[in-house]
Amino acid sequence: MRSPRHFFEPLAVGAPTPLREIPFRPSRMIHFFDPSNAKMAAKLPELAKTCDVLLGNLEDAVAADKKVEAREGFVRVAREVDFKRCQLWTRVNSLDSPWFLDDVERIVAEVGDRLDVLMIPKVEGAWDIHFVDRLLALLEARHGLKRPILIHAILETALGVANVEEIAGASPRMQGLSLGPADLAASRRMKTTRVGGGHPGYIVRADPDPALPDAPRPAYQQDLWHYTLARMVDACVAQGILPYYGPFGDIRDTQACEDQFRNAFIIGCVGAWSLHPVQIKIARQVFSPPVDEVRWARRVIEAMGDGTGAVMLDGKMQDDATVKQCRVMVGLAQMLARDDAELSAAYGFDPPAGAER
Ligand code: GLV
Ligand code: MG
Repeated sequence: MRSPRHFFEPLAVGAPTPLREIPFRPSRMIHFFDPSNAKMAAKLPELAKTCDVLLGNLEDAVAADKKVEAREGFVRVAREVDFKRCQLWTRVNSLDSPWFLDDVERIVAEVGDRLDVLMIPKVEGAWDIHFVDRLLALLEARHGLKRPILIHAILETALGVANVEEIAGASPRMQGLSLGPADLAASRRMKTTRVGGGHPGYIVRADPDPALPDAPRPAYQQDLWHYTLARMVDACVAQGILPYYGPFGDIRDTQACEDQFRNAFIIGCVGAWSLHPVQIKIARQVFSPPVDEVRWARRVIEAMGDGTGAVMLDGKMQDDATVKQCRVMVGLAQMLARDDAELSAAYGFDPPAGAER
């Protein structure tokens, strides 16, 4: 293990110094686009106004004969489009693929200064992060980059889940983790062909009623992803990085998508992927703290004064711990409201200077 004394030293001569803190910027939705698709690329300036993160996808869902086109398309849009406040990420191909090396070399060389985060799929252990960490340092040094590129890993193999704590803490570049339910299901040999969400067969059935043993017994669908999501959130928070839910594949089922996103939000995730414009709206709504909760949390904070002791508010006990819960809610609301006048007004905050949306 690397000594804590050396953890924040650059891994190549001339590479920028790693960050001590991961910037916590709005990232409620990581909206995927295919950079090989010129029609999609033309919509990016408009999309950038409504998204926290736009991600050029080079990996799965891009056909093998479109990989180079997607890479070059990404370089082009990164150079030409003004993303304003929206972050620009890319998902490169997996480390063992024939495209990974060229993806990273070309993108860092051409548009490394415009890239916020590099998403790495199918990360299995700290060794994968260490490899990317050193490679990025060498490329940053070669191309004179001033700001370190951050790494986001997808948790989508059984081995990755087994090693999630060490992945989250493998490098100061680690920005966050996303749960990838499709690849993870395949890797674990789960028997679902869906991308995220529930499964009608994954249930718990109520006991029979002894008085009516033949009466129908209610059954309740369980959450297939709860264990992984909870474990991932703990691993991320313990290492000071950000957890995200990944894709929800049934674009038409907006209700189940909203439920999946909300479960992730409540359990601690800061955002989710969006695969279609309809999911951008869902993510924006779900990953912004609800107005009534924020207003309530502000009342608690005010009533708790210096944050110690206990008070009763509307019949509910408040103490040092509940005020911390409320600060989480209000802190997130304030961060999001900084660039969002509408949200700011809904929360009852003073209007932010220069807000546009
Ligand atoms: C995402 O990449 C997934 O496999 O779910
Ligand atoms: Mg995947």
